[in-house]
Amino acid sequence: MQFKVDHKQYVKEGKEVRFSGEMQAKVRQLISRYPEGKQKSALLPLLHLAQEELGGYLSADVMDYIAGILGIQPVEVYEVATFYTQFSLEERGKFLIEICRTAPCAVCGGEKMSQFIQEKLGIRPGETTPDGLFTLREVECLGACGNAPVMQVNTGFHENLSVERISEIIDNIKSGSETANTGGTGKWAEELF
Ligand code: FES
Repeated sequence: MQFKVDHKQYVKEGKEVRFSGEMQAKVRQLISRYPEGKQKSALLPLLHLAQEELGGYLSADVMDYIAGILGIQPVEVYEVATFYTQFSLEERGKFLIEICRTAPCAVCGGEKMSQFIQEKLGIRPGETTPDGLFTLREVECLGACGNAPVMQVNTGFHENLSVERISEIIDNIKSGSETANTGGTGKWAEELF
């Protein structure tokens, strides 16, 4: 029997947590990639989708909703969501800037880049700008040490950074002219979805 996705039962405390019709179709398509009875394997792509589409972070209600869709226990979702740093469990800015602080990036100017971002946006790591646009995080190796210094903005990857390039990226985001690689689903995520 085919696994049936039910989106209707997840209205918690009068607040609806639900994917749009288009995203519900995407959810069905993602789950259908896996054999019957193995729908749990769709958990990671569903969490990415939920983070993108349901408020930019994974609240407890959103994680419960995903657990319900997959017919698994909420704690199984919490375990995964808290393990991967790609998932945020707290509200954050529309654009999450993650600047690498590990040694190869640090010796290539990573600290200076982080300092520059902090001064340009007026926030410290872990903070969000008052307009809700940017959250800054200093993170460990992003896996592109050969092209240090490196930062990630949402799913967009930026290597061989300079303060000029960072300034340009931030200004472009503010003006709305840089979205493809910074504002939402990057190439890897498109493949994932
Ligand atoms: S040390 Fe920065 S990407 Fe690896």
